[in-house]
Amino acid sequence: MNDLLRKNVLFVGGKGGVGKSTSSAALAMASAHAKQKTLLVSTDPAHNIGDIFQTDVGGDMTKITENLFALEIDSETETKKYLQTVKDHLKGMVRSDMIDEVNRQIDTAGASPGASEAALFDRLVSIVLDEISDFDLIVFDTAPTGHTIRLLTLPELMGVWIDGMLERRRKTNEHYTQLLNDGDPVEDPVYEVLQARKEKFAKVRDILLDHKRTGYLFVLIPERLPIIETKNALKTMDQHHLHVDHLIVNKILPEKADGEFLAKRRELERSYLKQIREVFSDRTLIEVPLFEEDITDFEKLKTFSTYMTK
Ligand SMILES: Nc1ncnc2c1ncn2[C@@H]1O[C@H](COP(=O)(O)OP(=O)(O)O)[C@@H](O)[C@H]1O
Ligand SMILES: [Mg+2]
Repeated sequence: MNDLLRKNVLFVGGKGGVGKSTSSAALAMASAHAKQKTLLVSTDPAHNIGDIFQTDVGGDMTKITENLFALEIDSETETKKYLQTVKDHLKGMVRSDMIDEVNRQIDTAGASPGASEAALFDRLVSIVLDEISDFDLIVFDTAPTGHTIRLLTLPELMGVWIDGMLERRRKTNEHYTQLLNDGDPVEDPVYEVLQARKEKFAKVRDILLDHKRTGYLFVLIPERLPIIETKNALKTMDQHHLHVDHLIVNKILPEKADGEFLAKRRELERSYLKQIREVFSDRTLIEVPLFEEDITDFEKLKTFSTYMTK
């Protein structure tokens, strides 16, 4: 079995339309064929796992075939659920006459740009932590580049943010202890909630940064802009210690494609492929040809997956 499939978590990233969903599905299928219990999760709002497998996949885990399960996460639903959890958490902690105001504030915060990312991230964290013991491999089909990177760097950012909150809470609590003057530390449910979140993030961070357990793949096509974008994306990922070891170079014109027009195109493509091999010489390249048709059924996906698991 291919080394990639031996990991526990795989993230597949890249621009829209390059073949992330197809690659994720192909990897997940190959893993399932190798008798590993596999979960394929889509976090891209433009879901198409359902189309690929010609079944309805939604927010609940759906069995696709033997050993293969899928799930599509919807950021709007997640944001709603997330805000409700926050409200529930706070319900017992604030004065009852303040509840309406607090809920209003939470709703306002929920409409801010970072909220849906935070919610999506929360779900992603839960999936990794809850399912990793039940599945041999979890494959995440992620949204286009920038989004994925922000999502993956969140544990770090959230860690710092929570640390700041914890410190402030600690100071306030110390202050109360002194005021009450009985020397007993005050019980602070908010502090406990924050502490629990921090521990959860730390746990997932350990998994995401462990090369043995987690792998990152980027999909690109042999063209000028995708090369530049991938270079930048990898730089950012590296800065966050998220090492992308595999690049899937998809939709390469096959040798058998003939005609003068294609010959010219292939010439150009050759120079891009050469560039890709040079620029990304420190990564493993998985080259996949352009198929005659879209990858829309099991048979084509199977053929596609043979390139990924060579
Ligand atoms: N190697 C390939 N040959 C032919 N069609 C492909 C290939 N890879 C992907 N496709 C098709 O390209 C389209 C975009 O692929 P998809 O995996 O949905 O991209 P993404 O998830 O990155 O947006 C789909 O219609 C898919 O079937
Ligand atoms: Mg997709």
